[in-house]
Amino acid sequence: MRDFELNLTPEEESLKQYKYMEKAKLLVAEKEKELGRKLTFHVTTFGCQMNARDSEKLVGILSEIGYVEAEDERADFVIYNTCTVRENADNKVWGRLGYLKSYKKQNPETIIGLCGCMMQEQGVVEKIEKEYKHVNLVFGTHNIYKFAELACKTLQSKGLVVDVWKENDKIVEDLPMKRKFSFKSGVNIMFGCDNFCSYCIVPYVRGREKSREPKDIIREIERLVADGVCEVMLLGQNVNSYGKNLEHPMSFADLLREVNKIEGLERIRFMTSHPKDLSDDLILAMKECDKVCGHMHLPLQSGSDRILEIMNRHYDKAKYLDIVRKLREAVPDIAITTDIIVGFPGETEEDFQETLNVVKEVGYDSAFTFIYSKRTGTRAAKMDNQVPTDVVKDRFNRLLEEVQTISAERAKRHEGKVMPVLVEGINEHDNSLVTGRLENNLVVHFKGTEDMIGKIYNVKLSECKGFYYLGELA
Ligand code: SAH
Ligand code: SF4
Ligand code: F3S
Repeated sequence: MRDFELNLTPEEESLKQYKYMEKAKLLVAEKEKELGRKLTFHVTTFGCQMNARDSEKLVGILSEIGYVEAEDERADFVIYNTCTVRENADNKVWGRLGYLKSYKKQNPETIIGLCGCMMQEQGVVEKIEKEYKHVNLVFGTHNIYKFAELACKTLQSKGLVVDVWKENDKIVEDLPMKRKFSFKSGVNIMFGCDNFCSYCIVPYVRGREKSREPKDIIREIERLVADGVCEVMLLGQNVNSYGKNLEHPMSFADLLREVNKIEGLERIRFMTSHPKDLSDDLILAMKECDKVCGHMHLPLQSGSDRILEIMNRHYDKAKYLDIVRKLREAVPDIAITTDIIVGFPGETEEDFQETLNVVKEVGYDSAFTFIYSKRTGTRAAKMDNQVPTDVVKDRFNRLLEEVQTISAERAKRHEGKVMPVLVEGINEHDNSLVTGRLENNLVVHFKGTEDMIGKIYNVKLSECKGFYYLGELA
């Protein structure tokens, strides 16, 4: 039976999970003694920033109960936090599971756990039960907060533990998390999605839209700042509809204003903004709030009004371009980035030309381009006018070339300027250099040392190398 059916409040549920952590700690300690060594874990994350943040929750709990992180999947507790937004995301997981099968033959004690969006997809659990018998634990996106309890169960059981829910309207706060970066962090402001774009599986696997209470978000960010974080990325599938269903509704623009007040925080980013819900007030808030980065990720998906309509996006090319114009008016030099899908069912060469036109007109700083992938259960999957693969590939290549030419051109415009850079780490190829990011998300390499990580420096952008800069401390 689901525990929320026992009517536990989210606070009681959180306490219950801490009890399970205590129990799991004992089980792990016992095993350690038996083996005479520490137990190790490895979490592999697929997909978007939401999944990355979820993985930090898993890592937090695994660390809390006594596991230490291993460098790769040769570990005692292996977790794949999966994505299913496109078919190739699924294929990667099936492939990796195949590899783990032989590893587990030699290390039968290894626990293999699967979670995330793919587990919510029809037929996946059945396929695992039938064909991937080396898997020990399967859970979904709605009950990830129960991971401590599920880990306990798995540690004590020989068979497969499965717990996947269809929906959950509660948000459990205050569980342990272990951040990947010391100085920056994602922060969920909402979960799920109500938009049902006709190509997209996310609403089916992440459930209905739920916003977190502003006070919980602010408290989390205050704690992060106290712990050394200076940049946050506010996360939601459609941040522009944040707060609509709260008991005391609050707009995303007002949330930004509140977050902007947090002392010690230096940079605020957010993702993703759906054009249909982007308000003038948000543009104003971006202009007013000094900590909000001059960057807007604004998925276009298609430049054709006809296709946008069938995609169920609720905006047209004119509205989209109008938002871009307003953003540029309010925040000069703002970086605009996007997502584009090529080969949506029924897309003609003319439709594609419309997309290319918008790409040229906006001049994106960067764009993620995707080949349409048919997702079972979505409306688009039932459309019978799928575009032939060779046509899609040809369009995709033409789009990519256009996008790359424009973004290299755009990046150049800052050459010679002095701009603030947040140092993120030592350069991977040359350890006399550090690597950091501009407010607009472009990467900069310059001479520096490890103690500079997590701090902001003024850097002269001496040379643009297409997608990154070489600079020097100003
Ligand atoms: N909520 C975000 C997008 C999340 S998914 C938004 O509305 O913008 C990230 C991107 O994946 C989408 O913007 C879209 O471009 C792409 N995508 C989603 N479903 C897809 C599919 N079936 N095939 C190809 N790309 C897809
Ligand atoms: Fe998918 Fe559309 Fe929701 Fe984004 S807004 S997650 S594309 S359904
Ligand atoms: Fe993938 Fe789920 Fe994110 S399907 S893109 S991991 S919400």
